[in-house]
Amino acid sequence: MALKYSISFATLLALLPLATAQSGAWGQCGGDGWTGPTTCIAGYTCTYSNPWYSQCLPGTASATVSTTTSAPTSTATSSAGLAVVAKAAGKLYFGSATDNPELSDAPYVAILSDTKEFNQITPGNSMKWDATEPSRGTFRFANGDAIVDLAKNNGQLLRGHTCVWHSQLPSWVTNGGFNNATLQSIIQTHCSTVVDHYKGQIWDVVNEPFNEDGTWRTSVFYNTIGPEYVAVALRAARAADPNAKLYVNDYNIDGTGAKSTAMVNLVKSLQAQGAPIDGVGIQGHLIVGQVPTTIQANIEQFAALGVEVAITELDIRMTLPVTDALLQQQKRDYQTVIAACNAVPKCVGVTIWDYTDKYSWVPSVFNGQGAALPWDANFNKKPAYDGIVAGFA
Ligand SMILES: *[C@@H]1O[C@H](CO)[C@@H](O)[C@H](O)[C@H]1NC(C)=O
Repeated sequence: MALKYSISFATLLALLPLATAQSGAWGQCGGDGWTGPTTCIAGYTCTYSNPWYSQCLPGTASATVSTTTSAPTSTATSSAGLAVVAKAAGKLYFGSATDNPELSDAPYVAILSDTKEFNQITPGNSMKWDATEPSRGTFRFANGDAIVDLAKNNGQLLRGHTCVWHSQLPSWVTNGGFNNATLQSIIQTHCSTVVDHYKGQIWDVVNEPFNEDGTWRTSVFYNTIGPEYVAVALRAARAADPNAKLYVNDYNIDGTGAKSTAMVNLVKSLQAQGAPIDGVGIQGHLIVGQVPTTIQANIEQFAALGVEVAITELDIRMTLPVTDALLQQQKRDYQTVIAACNAVPKCVGVTIWDYTDKYSWVPSVFNGQGAALPWDANFNKKPAYDGIVAGFA
């Protein structure tokens, strides 16, 4: 997600004093609705991320700069079209995340709109809670609508993202002091209104419910309602749009392990309660050279529950600078992930978390890392593109 923090980062944010003259390391320093400090402590620079968020990053220049100044040392040779090869392999789609500020970049939009490459898009930020219901009962749909209109004009599927998430959540929800019943009704109103507005879509209804060890993440939702909040959100989404495909989505559930087991148990529990659950979203924020070896086995264990599976936010980042060896390893890593999805019929599609390094969220969150996507910042296809094509073969 253009913005998406590791747990330690979220914790760090929570520990920062609420009102200081300058934002601290990694703190927010701007964005729509932000009323806090707009400058950073010494050694950090307030760096624009998107209309909703600017952040204090170390140093005086964004890490993105080093991405854009690295010339590609090798490029892709295939021009098969990623959606073309995904569909030929029996998948529903190959897609990309995008975000509203990027839509004024014509060369960017031209590739995003090429349905030979992408027949699905996901809004990176504009359907999140802070964007859609910034104050209670006041809904804003214009930015999400712009992404939907683009998808419609292009003939692309759209993945709604996301209804209930602990992050990019307005403080009226987090700090409202609501009791169990009231917070349940707030979720119901939010999810039914947003899913109703964006009818006929795939939805990441609940995002990132678990900690790394498979325990529940202690969000305001979990703390106030308990694990039942997931079913509350899913039922509201199903009532609003009986045809939408409803997913629970998380990161670091790529390979088998405690967090993936927690997701298996959640799906089983939802099914036992008769709560609607159609799919598991595996985000797929991975690291070059460290792709798990159990991805296929993991997808198979989700599929065995009778739900579909999608890889929803794939990117495979590297420590900069880009080298030929890293690009070749990245190509193999993309191929490994795609081949795992390809091998399991219930893995229905793959979405990359934007397609070009120009707009990747990685450099702004993982200091010194980047170049995670199949197109470089100058829109040249990298060897990773060939890896994806090979994975669908
Ligand atoms: C909240 O209410 C639901 C019933 O609507 C109940 O199942 C759940 O245990 C309650 N949660 C807490 C933390 O009391």
